[in-house]
Amino acid sequence: MKEGAASPVIHDSLKRLEYRGYDSVGIATLHNGELQLKKDQGKIDDVHKLLNLDDLKGNIGIGHTRWATHGAPLKINAHPHLDCTGKIAVIHNGIIENFSELKLELENNGHTFVSKTDTEIIAHLIEDNITKNPKYCLADAVNETVKRLEGSYAIAVISTLEPTKIVCARNESPLVLGVNQNGYYLASDIPAFLPITNRAIIINDGEIIIISSEGYEIRKINDYSIVSREPKTIDWTPEMAVKKGYPHFMIKEINEQPSTLRNTLRMQDHYLDLISTFLDRAKDVFLVACGTSYHACFAASYMFSKLAFLPTYPVYASEFVEQHGKSVNIDSTILAVSQSGETADTLSSVTCAQQRAATILGLTNVIGSTLTRVSRVYIGQQSGPEIGVAATKTFTSELSVLAQLALRLSKKRGKVSQDEMDFLSEKLEKIPDIVETIICNQAKKVKQIAKKYKNAKVFFFLGRGISAATAYEGRLKLMEIAYVPSIAFPAGESKHGPISLIEPGFPVVFICPKDGSHKTLISNIMEMKARGASIISIIEEDDEIIKKLSDDFVEVPKGIPEILSPIPFVVPLQLLAYYMALEKGLNPDTPRNLAKCVTVK
Ligand code: M6R
Repeated sequence: MKEGAASPVIHDSLKRLEYRGYDSVGIATLHNGELQLKKDQGKIDDVHKLLNLDDLKGNIGIGHTRWATHGAPLKINAHPHLDCTGKIAVIHNGIIENFSELKLELENNGHTFVSKTDTEIIAHLIEDNITKNPKYCLADAVNETVKRLEGSYAIAVISTLEPTKIVCARNESPLVLGVNQNGYYLASDIPAFLPITNRAIIINDGEIIIISSEGYEIRKINDYSIVSREPKTIDWTPEMAVKKGYPHFMIKEINEQPSTLRNTLRMQDHYLDLISTFLDRAKDVFLVACGTSYHACFAASYMFSKLAFLPTYPVYASEFVEQHGKSVNIDSTILAVSQSGETADTLSSVTCAQQRAATILGLTNVIGSTLTRVSRVYIGQQSGPEIGVAATKTFTSELSVLAQLALRLSKKRGKVSQDEMDFLSEKLEKIPDIVETIICNQAKKVKQIAKKYKNAKVFFFLGRGISAATAYEGRLKLMEIAYVPSIAFPAGESKHGPISLIEPGFPVVFICPKDGSHKTLISNIMEMKARGASIISIIEEDDEIIKKLSDDFVEVPKGIPEILSPIPFVVPLQLLAYYMALEKGLNPDTPRNLAKCVTVK
């Protein structure tokens, strides 16, 4: 900033980003060539009450509010992180995949680490680059450092070595620059600076930006060539900006899935290995969860069985104690899945199992949640905060992590050939792009389907095999968001009772991947069609047979392996629920009677 202290401006901006995560906060500034730093765990207001974040001196600084990915939400893990000399301060969003290797290398070179984060290695790598190359300026050192990082990052660096500069770089994590006559404001999201300026430049992947009182300079990381880009005017209201221009969080989060799914492919091998080792040794494996997370567990029971030949019991957490409380024992393993990590039913199942000496494993989106504290080993699914009450991006991320676990276990048990493993791993890598294609190409069509069926009194969702889980999830989304009574069954069960409801025009959604049950599913479609049902099918794009049988269809790219199919096939169903809610004039983000996190039993 040209005038005034930076820390109150950074503090206000962090408050505007607090909806993205808030387990700790920190600010560092430069004043008279010295680094000033305050940070602690807790929400911004609580930390401010304790430390007064506004009285750091200096007109240049960086600040961060954290959503834990590596390391618990503790003060030592709060950003900014420093190098060994305390001269370089770094904040970071994203996940550094190769951080364990880099940390080991740096430790062997004499660096000492104080946190459990991946971020801290960045500060030490910059220090290392400067020590080894005395001619390097700060920007050179940052540029060389980011070339060694694998994964996603948006970083901001300040240093007493060049106390008038901030250097930032980006790969796959958002970074935007706000500009006005009084200064430059780099942030991960536009709402951070929108009340100060609506002139902004988006920094692209593979770019580094250097800011000083003289101006800003954007360069390409790979060849250091200059990029010229002028600021654009942002005409969003602050409310629109928080939702990135989308009208609701739910649709924003549906659209985030390609990127959240990419994040799930950056899991640390170590944790996947540990969890699959526990699963391998267990006598009984219970997959315990509620709501959408239960549907992920239900799908996972097919994955574990088909890939690793491991039978598992998916159990509603609210029923676990009654159903299995007496039989669970020291040989049992509980894999508890919970986006929030705080769902009361899930936690009480865990307590019951723990009291009976079972092993507790966790999969959650919230590092530092109770589930992470009570689990022997846990995996953070890295979806980022989910604000919409309906779970969308966290469901597909849970599925992706569970599929990876099933693949690990399969490898451990030698159950699937190397060729098949390679094929499935390649397909898993492509899932984010496939989901992107579905959202781009099919959203309009789903919107029309919602319009057509907006007055339907009830919906059926049917699928066979693993697609039964997709059907259950489609039903839950439509019920909770659009208040449309819905019924879901494995398609084969429909003729054992539910079919009596069918009368002309009754909408039945079929989930139709081209898997082993495709032929039988066609018979189930015929049964419904013969009774006058309106068939809405989610099909692979070359599925001409089902296309002909359907009144309406939504297409997903072809060639998706059965065990991965719930990830892309659920996306049109999320969109259907969303557009149905809009057709009915409902706010999909805040459905009645529901809470994002259910902390009562
Ligand atoms: O945080 P959790 O994954 O434990 O939450 C479980 C359910 O409460 C949750 O999935 C709920 O069913 C959502 N409203 C579904 O959209």
